[in-house]
Amino acid sequence: MQQFREKKERGERITALTAYDYPTARLLDESGIDLILVGDSLGMVVLGYEDTTEVTLGEMVHHTRAAARGVKRAFLTGDLPINTYDTPAQAVATARALVDAGAQSVKLEGGLSHVRQIEAIIAEGIPVMGHIGMLPQSVREEGGYKVKGRTQNEAEALLRDAEAVEKAGVFAVVLEIVSPETARQITNALKIPTIGIGSGQHCDGQILVTHDLIGLFPWFTPKFVSPEAHVADEIRKAVQVFIGRTKAGGV
Ligand code: KIV
Repeated sequence: MQQFREKKERGERITALTAYDYPTARLLDESGIDLILVGDSLGMVVLGYEDTTEVTLGEMVHHTRAAARGVKRAFLTGDLPINTYDTPAQAVATARALVDAGAQSVKLEGGLSHVRQIEAIIAEGIPVMGHIGMLPQSVREEGGYKVKGRTQNEAEALLRDAEAVEKAGVFAVVLEIVSPETARQITNALKIPTIGIGSGQHCDGQILVTHDLIGLFPWFTPKFVSPEAHVADEIRKAVQVFIGRTKAGGV
């Protein structure tokens, strides 16, 4: 964790991606990624739910265990799913379940509203990553994935959230779909690193859902992602070759 802060001090960018299974976690780890997140984006890109609001702790534990088997070097963080950190005691129990499954730290969504939960988890010796801006677990109330921090009021509220989670002791904070200028101001105001997703270039690091980066979820790609591969197309091609080969009597 100290390394993340030192990277910020040196101006070295932090890299983070999601993984939900052994082979992906192992490939990311072997490729040199700094942080692997078993995100609750699991719900959309692996389990086929509409959003993250249906993900259960049981599912997160199962996938954290699988990912943990593939990680030797990177820092493994597990997401606390919705409705599993409503009180400090519940947050501690949920964080403990993910740590027992192999996570080295946990992430939860919320700023000022969740300081008590963050403090309680950290008091148990479990590192916490914050997550502010667009909060996917609130997507239904919000009516979509909208940019945060465009107005002065929103920017000030986000800065207060960022400062509150920093004071509560998080080792880094994810800024999701925050306007680049607000993300820059927050990044400059904090000593801990900011990890951006769809929040511009001024954050101390970047995180993406791996399926978006490698083109493995072709039915929806967020606007801010530039895929570096088209794995879904490769799978379709390989399956077509196999179908043709098999129908022709081959093996
Ligand atoms: O669930 C997730 O994958 C996330 C990141 C994209 C930040 O929260």
